[in-house]
Amino acid sequence: MRKDQGIIKKNECIAHNTYQMVIHSSLAREMQPGQFVHIQIPGMMLRRPISIASIEEDAYTIVYKVVGEGTKVLSSMQEGDICDAIGPLGSSFPIHEDKEDILLVGGGVGVPPLYEVAKRYRALHKHVEVVLGFENHEHIFYEKEFQALGCQVHIATMDGSYGSQGNVLDVIKEEKLTECFLYACGPIKMLQALKKEYTRGYVSLEERMACGIGACMGCVCKDTKGNMKRVCKEGPVFAITEVEL
Ligand SMILES: Cc1cc2nc3c(=O)[nH]c(=O)nc-3n(C[C@H](O)[C@H](O)[C@H](O)COP(=O)(O)OP(=O)(O)OC[C@H]3O[C@@H](n4cnc5c(N)ncnc54)[C@H](O)[C@@H]3O)c2cc1C
Ligand code: FES
Repeated sequence: MRKDQGIIKKNECIAHNTYQMVIHSSLAREMQPGQFVHIQIPGMMLRRPISIASIEEDAYTIVYKVVGEGTKVLSSMQEGDICDAIGPLGSSFPIHEDKEDILLVGGGVGVPPLYEVAKRYRALHKHVEVVLGFENHEHIFYEKEFQALGCQVHIATMDGSYGSQGNVLDVIKEEKLTECFLYACGPIKMLQALKKEYTRGYVSLEERMACGIGACMGCVCKDTKGNMKRVCKEGPVFAITEVEL
């Protein structure tokens, strides 16, 4: 983990209020799927945590939704601007060479960290099913990107404006994907519902954070033995059986 000043190569809108930023940085070589960077937003005191979506040799990609002032400023940054980030932070999604059927489940801005997991498993020629849940068709992103890797992609929208109507659990049951090895990131209600179905796999939590480096206890959750875990340090990735959701 270190402080880095990467150069923004691209910052483009890819769906409703959703942006993809590519950052040229040697930090990419130290990154693992599921980890995050803590980004300094110009003019703001607190850094903002954003997951690493894709890792190349000399660049990494983040995908973020504009929800407040910080992400609004981030969306206005231009090619050539400096992206000041601390990272890579947190635990990563382990990749298991012995697993054959992988299921990635993402809800909204929980989708990005799953993309690098898909890349790793497809490089190992594993079967990868992807179920993505969005509010409506305007919010959908990365469907084609997952397909281009050779994943089977299923989309659920709450209003039925694209793909199946309903939530990701509806699709999982419809497609009979409950035997797969799970990787999931998204709203807590989605993770709670998945925990009832799966005992094998990992979840990534996206709690609100302050320091991002394990010093303030501002992001704690409980494990199943009642111990406090810092999402920014011991997480954000946990085995699905390890944490209370
Ligand atoms: C480990 C981790 C990884 C993340 N990865 C991504 C990512 O890949 N893409 C992405 O778009 N976002 C991600 N987030 C969430 C992102 O950090 C927040 O959306 C961002 O910090 C909001 O900053 P802001 O200044 O725009 O909004 P703020 O003004 O800080 O908040 C605006 C609104 O969003 C809510 N909010 C802020 N942060 C969170 C949060 N963590 N969970 C739920 N609600 C929140 C606030 O309560 C408020 O209502 C991640 C968070 C964590 C902890
Ligand atoms: S945000 Fe400070 S300990 Fe996690």
